[in-house]
Amino acid sequence: MKLPFPGVWLAIFCFIPGFVISAPPFPPKTVPVLIKKSPLDAKVETLLKKMTLEEKIGQMCQFHPWRGADEKFKSQTAEGKIGSFLNVFGAKETNAFQKAAMNSRLKIPLLFGLDVIHGYKTIFPIPVAEDCTWNPDLIERSTAVAAKEAAAAGVRWTFAPMVDVSREPRWGRISEGSGEDPALGAILQPARVRGFQGKNLSDPGSIAACAKHYVGYGAAEAGREYNTTDMSEMTLRSIHLPPFKACVEAGVRTLMSAFNDLNGIPTSGNVHTIREILKGEYAFKGFVVSDWASVEQLVDHGYAADKKEAAQKGVIAGVDMDMVSNVYGDNIPALLKEKKLSMGQIDDAVRRILRVKFELGLFDKPYAEEEKESAATLTPENLATALEEAEQSIVLLKNEKNLLPLSREIKTIAVIGNLADSKRDPQGSWNCRGEESIDKVVTVLDGIKARVSKETKVLYNPGVGTSSSATDLVINEAVKTAKQAQMAIVVAGETQDMSGEAASRTTLDLPGRQEEMIKAIKASGVPVVLLLMNGRPLTIPWEAENIPAIVETWYLGTQHGTAVANVLFGDTNPSGKLVVTFPRSLGQVPIYYGQMHTGRPVDEAKPNEKWHSRYIDSPNSPQFPFGFGLSFTSYSYSNLRLSSRTLNSKGQIKVTADVKNTGAMDGFEIVQLYIQDIAASITQPVRKLVDFKRVTLRAGESQMVEFNLPASKLGFYNGIGKYVIEPGKFNVWVGKDSSDETLKDSFDLINAPAALLKK
Ligand code: BGC
Repeated sequence: MKLPFPGVWLAIFCFIPGFVISAPPFPPKTVPVLIKKSPLDAKVETLLKKMTLEEKIGQMCQFHPWRGADEKFKSQTAEGKIGSFLNVFGAKETNAFQKAAMNSRLKIPLLFGLDVIHGYKTIFPIPVAEDCTWNPDLIERSTAVAAKEAAAAGVRWTFAPMVDVSREPRWGRISEGSGEDPALGAILQPARVRGFQGKNLSDPGSIAACAKHYVGYGAAEAGREYNTTDMSEMTLRSIHLPPFKACVEAGVRTLMSAFNDLNGIPTSGNVHTIREILKGEYAFKGFVVSDWASVEQLVDHGYAADKKEAAQKGVIAGVDMDMVSNVYGDNIPALLKEKKLSMGQIDDAVRRILRVKFELGLFDKPYAEEEKESAATLTPENLATALEEAEQSIVLLKNEKNLLPLSREIKTIAVIGNLADSKRDPQGSWNCRGEESIDKVVTVLDGIKARVSKETKVLYNPGVGTSSSATDLVINEAVKTAKQAQMAIVVAGETQDMSGEAASRTTLDLPGRQEEMIKAIKASGVPVVLLLMNGRPLTIPWEAENIPAIVETWYLGTQHGTAVANVLFGDTNPSGKLVVTFPRSLGQVPIYYGQMHTGRPVDEAKPNEKWHSRYIDSPNSPQFPFGFGLSFTSYSYSNLRLSSRTLNSKGQIKVTADVKNTGAMDGFEIVQLYIQDIAASITQPVRKLVDFKRVTLRAGESQMVEFNLPASKLGFYNGIGKYVIEPGKFNVWVGKDSSDETLKDSFDLINAPAALLKK
């Protein structure tokens, strides 16, 4: 029988009625935040000693000032009852609240948090698109831009990055993360932490990052938002935790506990994940904020009988700050009195919060500089970074007979679909202050008009939109417009509110009558280029078969239209590669490249044979695999070499391959390294990404791409959550995507001292 982890026992014990006689101690393995006395610790301790209980609890409470309640919140701040606000932004506005904090007894500054997810006013591509760049340096740069713009507005804390791994395209928040792969997330997400937090958190342009939603939120059952999650310790450790661990290692200062329950324990009351893993094993010294009222929601989960018990469970689990519900403010005093919580637990939470405020330099410089705010946003440099990133985020999915790039001398071009003329949609679902800079957004239509020759006629028809009630007449009108042109650019997909939070869908098809419209335009004989604008993988089997050119543009932010036009007309060679698998049909979901073996895999030689792990009505393979993306040039891969056939658990091997640009255009290629542990004590995925390189290749140029593969990357988490490296045979691939079989070899990890291996 598998025994629950110690934290689970502790939680069970503490909450059996009649058993709670005194404050529970820190669970085993938890490292309290006061580890060693640094000058910073000393400052925190000095301040902590001066604080009343009310002031301490105040630091653990964050509020959202609902319209009209500003004065009430300001006076509570002046009384030391509030430590943080979310959704207060703007130098003038934050300063007005900060003034109240400066009027409080101890003048502890407020910390203002905001969802600066992919930009503040200069909006960058949505995260799942950004990550299709596979370019951590660029992601770090764009995130630093967002940090500077936000910091100038008094916002020194963002609720980002969202690092939830998700293999569930029905879940709308797949748009906010790094997609399906833990290793990729563990490389790209820390880049965001570095970008937001800068070299020094006290620099005026740095803001504290918040890795969210801890943990497992992306595994929502049936892809339904806020839904339950259930997984083995092995899956938790190997799929969902790695990006969080990597962010902690990168120094992320805060984490957000999630809405979901995990194996029966809600994550905002979960001793095992927060106390034991995060604050224990990972020795995380920052603080944990709840998601919106997620501690209070322990009651709705059926995990706490009332709000008081919810507060108790939240604190015991290690949720240091409550977002908006005030369950801490309302209940901690009584919980202390009844000895259901200890002062040590409260002090631990407050220390963590104060530490971050000190690190941000807020005690020395609590106010934003109002006169500098507007000059910091939407600068030409910021917009240039947004364009660079938007271009690299675009994924070319199909380009039959090199239909793209188009000539700018084209005589007449039809642009169809109201997404082409939308300024709101390209900003995605978390557009932060994008509303204020919406006039700066370049639509697809604007981008195309600006790129074609003066003689080119650009026709536009909004088409059917995403509504199912569009009439045949609307489709006929769209066809009529298309027929007047040499080429139809159809922009189809989802409106920005169809992905993101609380936007789960039960189908991944193009919404409404868009596919019917595309079919009708295609039937009219005019060549069609399909530009997809969406926040999740869509199922487009008909289009993939019948439309000659398909471009995944996602929501690219302020520079959407310029980036798209630059690709359409060949000023930019697309290089993005998918970070999520695109299924052929919803029935294949969950579908991801790193699936486990089965005892009855499909026999490649007889793919239609029964009694194998397959569907009777569809191939197993996806429409577009993870890591896939085309270019206007072509690349050939050859000459895979391993520096050795064997290594031991402390060694490493060099894996090299030659990649050649065999086409006529310069380009970037994302070269991917995968491995497979062929036989292990716990079955392993058929492939695992371990590394990648982004290489620039001029037309005709060849480059040797080299990877160092240390044995430390060959391990896995076993059934009790321990990382183990086992001897055995490994397959290795270097390729252009997760399905590329061209370059494959194998090596052995053996139990032998290094000296022996060298012979
Ligand atoms: C979301 C978080 C977000 C928070 C604050 C919640 O509903 O789940 O991702 O940071 O609201 O806006």
